[in-house]
Amino acid sequence: MTMFSRAGSITPRESVSLLPAYAAGKPPRAAEGLTPYKLSSNENPLGPVPAVAHAMAAVDTLHRYPHPNAESLRAGLAKLLDVPVEDIVAGTGSLGALTQIINAFAGSNSDGSQDEVIYAWRSFEAYPIVVRTAGAKDVTVPVAADGRHDLEAMLAAITEQTKVLLLCTPNNPTGPALRHSEVEAFLAKVPSDVVVVIDEAYQEFVRTEDPVDALALYRSHPNVVVLRTFSKAHGLAALRVGYSIAGQEITRHLRVVAAPFSVSTLAEVAALASLEHLEQVHERVDSLVAERDRVTSALAEAGWKIPEAQGNFVWLPLGEKTAAFAEAAGLQALAVRGFPGEGVRVTIGEVEANDRFIELCRTYRFEA
Ligand SMILES: Cc1ncc(COP(=O)(O)O)c(C=O)c1O
Repeated sequence: MTMFSRAGSITPRESVSLLPAYAAGKPPRAAEGLTPYKLSSNENPLGPVPAVAHAMAAVDTLHRYPHPNAESLRAGLAKLLDVPVEDIVAGTGSLGALTQIINAFAGSNSDGSQDEVIYAWRSFEAYPIVVRTAGAKDVTVPVAADGRHDLEAMLAAITEQTKVLLLCTPNNPTGPALRHSEVEAFLAKVPSDVVVVIDEAYQEFVRTEDPVDALALYRSHPNVVVLRTFSKAHGLAALRVGYSIAGQEITRHLRVVAAPFSVSTLAEVAALASLEHLEQVHERVDSLVAERDRVTSALAEAGWKIPEAQGNFVWLPLGEKTAAFAEAAGLQALAVRGFPGEGVRVTIGEVEANDRFIELCRTYRFEA
């Protein structure tokens, strides 16, 4: 038997030991006489349409593996979106679908060089984890003061090493959505061998003029990937199901890295049931958008200046006052997401939760 003289602890890859921890939204604290609300994870407070529970209850194949590649769901989406079924790859949440994209296109190479992935910051907290775990280098471009992507600066950040560029619209956590015309102009300047991911986790909530038509952009640009999820508008976050849409020059590589069976049978059945009742899904989204508008109007009336909110959340750019405000919300049994030194993200929740948040904003006094 070979003996090694390697005393020491078990250590992960260097890039893994340097990863930021993903801070999941915390549950709310209890407070006397107040119903607690979780407004810290951009969840849909209304839940899925009723047909989802019926469809899941009827599943009698729990002892069987699911379809390896979520064939039924992809067929349903292909019909709905009028795209070839081969252009859709499903994943464990859109985060799973994004992980496939990064793993397929960016990493470290045999000559020691690292591929680069450009994204705005602050944006979705999981981006650095997915990019760095793949062994790629993340290149972050600060969002502008109004919370919007700085597309010019993102273009300027492109190098020979750039393999993937992520656009998050609406941007989590700052809120603004990109416009179709600006993304079209942007894509015209991006080299055609850079994969551009349009992360549309909150697409259904967008109510701007000139909204991004990402499907049109995927049809006209072979390097565009559209990323979508059932976690937000469809209220299926617990089931973990999302997908990407791209041309086959991209999806054929995604299929190679996609773990088989990554969408469970229950998730697939639930997502299909939700798609079959899209009108009800849209009604629910409309009611959340109405709540969002009520919250943003009330905040504006109370003198708050916040970026355009196009997702199911609002962003309070509080800088150093972030922790104090998050604490005050906690005392009101509202769990919110504070990013220390930057701001607080608050999900649009139940009407009572939104009322309480509005009241907190109206009455909150900043310490001098
Ligand atoms: C911008 C963005 N992209 C992707 C995701 C991942 O969502 P899921 O993996 O639940 O589909 C989230 C979740 O909050 C998000 O905010």
